[in-house]
Amino acid sequence: MVNTKPIGIFDSGVGGLSVVKSLKRVLPNENIIYVGDLRHFPYGTKTEEEVKTYARNITKFLLTKEVKLIIVACNTVSSIAMDELKVLANPVEVIGMIQSGAEYAVKTTKNKKVGVISTPLTAKKHAYKNEIQKLDGSIEVFEVGSQELVNLVEDGVSFNDYACALAREKLEEPLKNKIDTLVLGCTHFPFLYKVVKSVVGESVEVIDPAEYIATKTVEHLNEIGFNNGTHKTIFYTTYDKESFKEKLSLFLSIEDSEVYEIDI
Ligand code: DGL
Repeated sequence: MVNTKPIGIFDSGVGGLSVVKSLKRVLPNENIIYVGDLRHFPYGTKTEEEVKTYARNITKFLLTKEVKLIIVACNTVSSIAMDELKVLANPVEVIGMIQSGAEYAVKTTKNKKVGVISTPLTAKKHAYKNEIQKLDGSIEVFEVGSQELVNLVEDGVSFNDYACALAREKLEEPLKNKIDTLVLGCTHFPFLYKVVKSVVGESVEVIDPAEYIATKTVEHLNEIGFNNGTHKTIFYTTYDKESFKEKLSLFLSIEDSEVYEIDI
């Protein structure tokens, strides 16, 4: 079945671009509409109510673009607003990060000790711990939150000594507890993969839930239809179009992107 409608993807900033990257590898022919809520970045230190309001507004905006599926490419939103967004978007399906990351972690860990690095809000909600332990109650989960690492990525950093020192400090506790798997529980963190890997070493598997999201999206498109024609990605930002364009060039190597500034 052919379905040319776009897939809607959103995040507070550039983090969701890591999800776009994973998705494009598996589904190169899909039209995508991406919203980066730069005006309200960061979400990780906001109240739940604030984050829910931003997520609702973006979801409504994506629905006006007639998306066939919405991917919440933000763990912070996924950890608090999935039920609400699913009701709002119905009958359009909404896929979040946490369930995918949790399933991936459960499949990966051998010693049943999993670390998760996320925003402070995701860590505070124990979103990953709850979801992982729902799947396997014998798995121990060590969650840490770092807004500073998220902010570094948003500022364009992918590797430097300061980022390594911060990651080392944050991951000390999970490493002391001998985790064998670390979930990148914030979509900004795949862009810090080298930093994280240099800290945790070879014995810890670092996993990106976005890879699993791509698989889930394929399963869903099997039901509602793939796009097999032209593929286009249109980007929307709620603030500073020019800086968003620079970030697209930095993180996705896209130079001639179509970017619009919106007021939502
Ligand atoms: N990238 C987002 C996440 O996965 C949020 C980062 C932020 O805005 O604090 O949680």
